[in-house]
Amino acid sequence: MKHSCDFLVIGSGLAGLLSAHKLSALGTVYLLTKKEAAECSSNYAQGGIAAAVGVDDTPESHAADTLKAGAGLCNEDIVRLVVDEAPARVRELLDLGVAFSEKDGAPDLGLEAGHARRRVLHAGDITGAEVVRALLERCRADRGVRIFENHIAVNIIRDDRGVCCGAYALERATGEVHTFTARATVLATGGAGKVYIYTTNPDVATGDGMAMAWRAGATLANMEFVQFHPTCLYHPQAKSFLISEALRGEGGRLVDRRGRAFMADYHPQQELAPRDIVARAIDAELKRTGEECVFLDMTHMSAEALRARFPNINEKCRAFGVDMAVAPIPVVPAAHFFCGGVQTDAETATTIPRLFAVGEVAHTGLHGANRLASNSLLECCVFAHRLYRLLDRRPELWPRPDFSALPEWNPGRAVKSDEAVVIEQNWDEIRRLMWNYVGIVRSKKRLERALNRMQLLNREIEQYYWDFLLTPDLIELRSIAVVATAVIQSAMARRESRGLHYNLDFPKPIEAERKDTVLSLYNVPASSR
Ligand code: FAD
Ligand code: SIN
Repeated sequence: MKHSCDFLVIGSGLAGLLSAHKLSALGTVYLLTKKEAAECSSNYAQGGIAAAVGVDDTPESHAADTLKAGAGLCNEDIVRLVVDEAPARVRELLDLGVAFSEKDGAPDLGLEAGHARRRVLHAGDITGAEVVRALLERCRADRGVRIFENHIAVNIIRDDRGVCCGAYALERATGEVHTFTARATVLATGGAGKVYIYTTNPDVATGDGMAMAWRAGATLANMEFVQFHPTCLYHPQAKSFLISEALRGEGGRLVDRRGRAFMADYHPQQELAPRDIVARAIDAELKRTGEECVFLDMTHMSAEALRARFPNINEKCRAFGVDMAVAPIPVVPAAHFFCGGVQTDAETATTIPRLFAVGEVAHTGLHGANRLASNSLLECCVFAHRLYRLLDRRPELWPRPDFSALPEWNPGRAVKSDEAVVIEQNWDEIRRLMWNYVGIVRSKKRLERALNRMQLLNREIEQYYWDFLLTPDLIELRSIAVVATAVIQSAMARRESRGLHYNLDFPKPIEAERKDTVLSLYNVPASSR
């Protein structure tokens, strides 16, 4: 089936919802999302959204903290424009109905690692759910927005000049692949935490947007910078539950099984050191002691105060038998955020004409080698707005082409797979390999091993793609394979340690290496060919 619209937005997290809502003022918007619309990383965001709105705060201070966290790799122009626009974007969220927590009639600002002062607006500890609720309500009410749930984008469609014309998408219920054509296409598919076996991300975060863009010939940048959040709840039955950094902002201490606080051994800022340092410190403690987790001690706060400030985390911990008012919370690091992604300019344009990218899928240059906490929701808002402004001012960027010659999806000679177990095996293998060889601490040898294995797996997976009819699992397996390979290739190309990328064989930053790692189909680093 063929569907045609002005704007095709792929993804219904904060980036996709806000883009769709804004673009509906310019034309018809089709919003594709792979599961139910609210299922996205945005929905699970806890800490909040950073903006210099406090009386003692300035965008300059926010910029300084962002640049410091980014360890010399941020694009300074992008950082400045994002922090300058932040207060206006937060006001816009309020106007759209987002209810942030307040204290004495003003926003209640939280503190997170790397921020010089309290500047994180939050809605209790369920900020993301509140933002997604408000925006989804808007999009459902927008007459110009049509939401296609349970539709998984498979590939970008390009015409014979290489211009993006939309995407193919698999409908879960029928197994049919539909053709969606659009005058402009927006990737808002989020990150790729599922490339790792342990992650804070929901199941939808398989890097599909990065993989689709890559296959279409777009440029990816800085894929080696994967942020590991230091504190994910450690419990056999708890899948991907984050223990927010805001707990450390309120005085939480990281301790070992005997109750010894260890962060002073690693950094003068202790628990509020940058996230990469805290994650590596925990990793080192786990390797040193052979224990399976460390603990976050919040017992300095009363049960009542914990319930009031962290109601969701408090309840979730209790459900797993941890009363955080009396016992420390078992925690481990987990893959959390991709600083790299599809390379865009300051106006969200990718290197493919009429293909735009907003949110975690994109590499704008804001985060550099390490993202400052709570800058990601902000990035979604700022760039959704810039996309809208660009397309509003420049209609020539989305002309009305003739799509009639575009081919519909052709399954070729593919047959139904009777080997689901093979897909499952490859999924597990990639995710475990990435955790063990391309995780918090890397080395030349581990990266080489990982790449050798991925080259074999990529061949196998491409073969299934041609032989078997598409399923959601096969689409996602293809995506994590592309993303895993890009992370490894980028990590191999960076012959230094910087921010989130730590390589035992090159343990220090090297000035000559202080540049972005840029990958495209036409430019794979020689070391990994
Ligand atoms: P997402 O919100 O992940 O949305 C992606 C969407 O794309 C989903 O709807 C998904 O279904 C859809 N999609 C993906 N592939 C396809 C496909 N092939 N076809 C169709 N649809 C597709 N950041 C902060 O700034 N502050 C925080 O407090 C914070 N807390 C966090 C807590 C957790 C647990 C996590 C996981 C992340 C947190 N982050 C936080 C990071 C932040 O939430 C994300 O970076 C941000 O929400 C990404 O938004 P997005 O719209 O780009 O992507
Ligand atoms: C958290 O609440 O710790 C997550 C904040 C973020 O990832 O920005």
